[in-house]
Amino acid sequence: MGTYLNINNGEESCPKTTEQAKKMAKHAIAVLLFSTVLFILAPESSSFPFQSVSSRRAPKFLGRFSTSKHRNQRPKQLLRYRYETRYFEQRLDHFSFSELPTFNQRYLISSEHWAGADRLGPIFLYCGNEGDIEWFAANTGFVWEIAPSFGAMVVFPEHRYYGNSMPFGSREEAYKDAASLSYLTAEQALADFAVLITNLKRNLSAEACPVILFGGSYGGMLAAWMRLKYPHIAIGALASSAPILQFEDIVPPETFYNIVSSDFKRESASCFNTIKASWNALISEGQKENGLSQLTRMFRLCRELKNTEELANWLDSAYSFLAMVDYPYPSEFLMPLPGYPIREVCRKIDGCPDGTSILERVFEGVGVYYNYTGEVDCFELDDDPHGMDGWNWQACTEMVMPMSSSPDASMFPAYDFNFSAFQEECWTNFKVNPRPRWITTEFGGKDIMTNLKTFGSNIIFSNGFLDPWSGYSVTQNVSDSIVALNTQEGAHHIDLRAATAQDPNWLVEQRATEIKLIKKWLSDYYQAKGATLRSNVETGDRATSM
Ligand SMILES: *[C@@H]1O[C@H](CO)[C@@H](O)[C@H](O)[C@H]1NC(C)=O
Ligand SMILES: *[C@@H]1O[C@H](CO)[C@@H](O)[C@H](O)[C@H]1NC(C)=O
Ligand SMILES: *[C@@H]1O[C@H](CO)[C@@H](O)[C@H](O)[C@H]1NC(C)=O
Ligand SMILES: *[C@@H]1O[C@H](CO)[C@@H](O)[C@H](O)[C@H]1NC(C)=O
Repeated sequence: MGTYLNINNGEESCPKTTEQAKKMAKHAIAVLLFSTVLFILAPESSSFPFQSVSSRRAPKFLGRFSTSKHRNQRPKQLLRYRYETRYFEQRLDHFSFSELPTFNQRYLISSEHWAGADRLGPIFLYCGNEGDIEWFAANTGFVWEIAPSFGAMVVFPEHRYYGNSMPFGSREEAYKDAASLSYLTAEQALADFAVLITNLKRNLSAEACPVILFGGSYGGMLAAWMRLKYPHIAIGALASSAPILQFEDIVPPETFYNIVSSDFKRESASCFNTIKASWNALISEGQKENGLSQLTRMFRLCRELKNTEELANWLDSAYSFLAMVDYPYPSEFLMPLPGYPIREVCRKIDGCPDGTSILERVFEGVGVYYNYTGEVDCFELDDDPHGMDGWNWQACTEMVMPMSSSPDASMFPAYDFNFSAFQEECWTNFKVNPRPRWITTEFGGKDIMTNLKTFGSNIIFSNGFLDPWSGYSVTQNVSDSIVALNTQEGAHHIDLRAATAQDPNWLVEQRATEIKLIKKWLSDYYQAKGATLRSNVETGDRATSM
């Protein structure tokens, strides 16, 4: 924090107004009238249709974590926590009796503050999601910070096919084809966690120790689902920013982009309008003679732009990620960013002198996301050009999360999720057919209020309403023990992050309620066990004061 002082303010950095820029701005407003044209025109200049690219945009927001950027470097936040790295031999397929090769699952473990098996010390299990587990461990300070007061052991198992937990010996072999990837499913991952924790407890003679699940985003989905599927293994789950309802037609598919858009609108209506107008400005600029070269220069791209949709996707990603990490204090979750980064983006966009073109404004704005440190010489558009990462596989099989963009409420180009196009792209990329109805069959989701009330207990769904995923999570209290803890100002699983001196009251309160509920689950469990647990009573009291 406070490290990135070399930031220009909007006025200084905005490019000089030119006649051309003025004309472009006017033109862009004119083309707004037929914004749907964007998708009809785009394919001509591109190697594959825009439709299929944008149908894939949504799932990729979760897959962000699996990109190479975070590999090979230990996140510096992790240095604060003491843990051991271990490997556990797992079956490749928990649901068949075929003799398949096993693989080693990585897990991080800390027994430093554990009250021990005799005192039924709890075990905090983070459900590893789609990326390197060290990176999630580094960004889940909450679990590390509360563990001592609970006398809890902390375990962070990695999700199979990510980080160092590769079946078939290497990433290349694991990701070779649809056959080698077919063991990459949420069900297998949950079974890995269940087998690991059961085995670990047996080794420690800790069978009676209660397990509490934690998870954020897809990890939060896993935590909630694991509590429902393995209630005998874990007594409760904190599922933070977990979009378990983004399947089939449970929630309108426009929800994600509507929330991103309203995050911008709440900062500034003119900022929202500028971005909304920019998509057509981009298309019309791209169609001009040398338009793509012009855009390449204007956006300081490292290599020549091939089509405008590449650039549109890059902008779309920035806005969407900004909404996810619109935290009230400076952070480095996806990128180094200031507090309330959307406010900063809009300050840049709105702050340019009159007559600055729409595209120049937008360029100034996204610099906050892509170049906050001021260290970027030129922008690289594709950090994952082939879409062959693990999340894309999951999205193309079970995790079909439809996403559209409404022509009214959204500042993004209008788009209707097209399953056929999505299916075609999955076939092209992986030779696999998505099963869009499987998740609701396997885990439920429809009529969630009735169903969870009937068969579930002890789940916290925590949400921050600035987070676009919050629209697909459970945001109402289902029963006494299945509760939604929502904050108006929170973003993507901010509650799981380490406490900071700048934490606003609503965040402090949200975490305090989580701690209180977890204590309740534990005391109910101990009561049911008939165990008088000194450590828990003591630690419980300390936990309240956090
Ligand atoms: C439990 O002990 C066995 C035998 O030493 C070992 O192979 C296994 O990895 C241990 N399990 C865990 C989860 O550490
Ligand atoms: C990134 O920011 C620095 C500092 O403001 C600036 O000098 C540099 O040109 C920016 N990079 C790009 C690609 O715009
Ligand atoms: C959906 O995609 C399919 C396959 O690409 C295409 O044939 C169809 O026209 C699209 N439907 C709409 C409504 O755009
Ligand atoms: C759900 O109940 C908890 C108390 O257990 C309360 O703090 C919370 O505000 C309630 N959530 C909603 C959305 O009403």
